[in-house]
Amino acid sequence: MTKRVVKVIDLVPGRAVQLAAIDNQAIDHERFWRDHVCAQQPIVIRHAVTNWPAFRKWGTPGYLEALANRQVGVSDTFNASPAGVWYQNLPKYGLDEAIACLRNAGPDDTFAIRALPIPQEWKADLGSYDFLHANRDLPPRAYARDRLFIYRNASTEWHYHTTDETLTTQIIGRKRVSMFRLSKEDWHAYAVPIKSNLHHMDERARFFPEDASLTKFEATLEPGDVLYIPPFWWHGVDPADTGFGITLAHCFRTPFNRLGSLSDPAVKDVIRAQGSLMLALRMRAFVALGSLTRIVNP
Ligand SMILES: [Fe+2]
Repeated sequence: MTKRVVKVIDLVPGRAVQLAAIDNQAIDHERFWRDHVCAQQPIVIRHAVTNWPAFRKWGTPGYLEALANRQVGVSDTFNASPAGVWYQNLPKYGLDEAIACLRNAGPDDTFAIRALPIPQEWKADLGSYDFLHANRDLPPRAYARDRLFIYRNASTEWHYHTTDETLTTQIIGRKRVSMFRLSKEDWHAYAVPIKSNLHHMDERARFFPEDASLTKFEATLEPGDVLYIPPFWWHGVDPADTGFGITLAHCFRTPFNRLGSLSDPAVKDVIRAQGSLMLALRMRAFVALGSLTRIVNP
């Protein structure tokens, strides 16, 4: 049977424009915080982690395999969203064996070790982010602090985060990223078909607005680059090569006064999805309090 590598970015119709990018040397703490985190504007920071030992060391076959071992699940599909129970039930392999398998796989094989906590022995090879002040790099509210994605040809399905700020840190391999923000007007036209997986159908075009007017902000991450992803920005990720790759997702806490607005369609969607009335009311109160803080402290 012919293997098929699934790519997700181009399954959602739109007009691609260049996502803003800046060199690590050209952005300081204040600018990153004011113009991007508080303004919820994504950006690619080039050469942000090229000084981390991982950038030099992790591509060498045998290096990571010798550092630590544990059991991990290995998927042979792209990273679907949400992951679902099937992902937790994957057969488990030693991490050393799994990494060696991914390094040696063929150019049309798809493999993913998803959301792996950083093994203790690997941590010495990671550093910090020059553009993020340590006082603001606080533990996230919902997501894990750090998740590693070790992959070959594994795209990540279109999704958004409801809270927490993400720094997608490309350590090995190249990735194409695409992002968009929906408004009240176009939320249903895009969110509904994507959440229903209709974008994966051959005749996908008929499920989306005909004018394809959605603006998609796109960039290619090179090893050492970081993509800042604010909450509620939809994003899809496709590997831009067929090789072995490693991405680290580092999350930090969304400032309280930027927790979203009750009139935002993305926030409404999240509140609607809460499992109970109590949880929905709690989330409404949390967002309302955040909005109030924003008025007092814009
Ligand atoms: Fe994400």
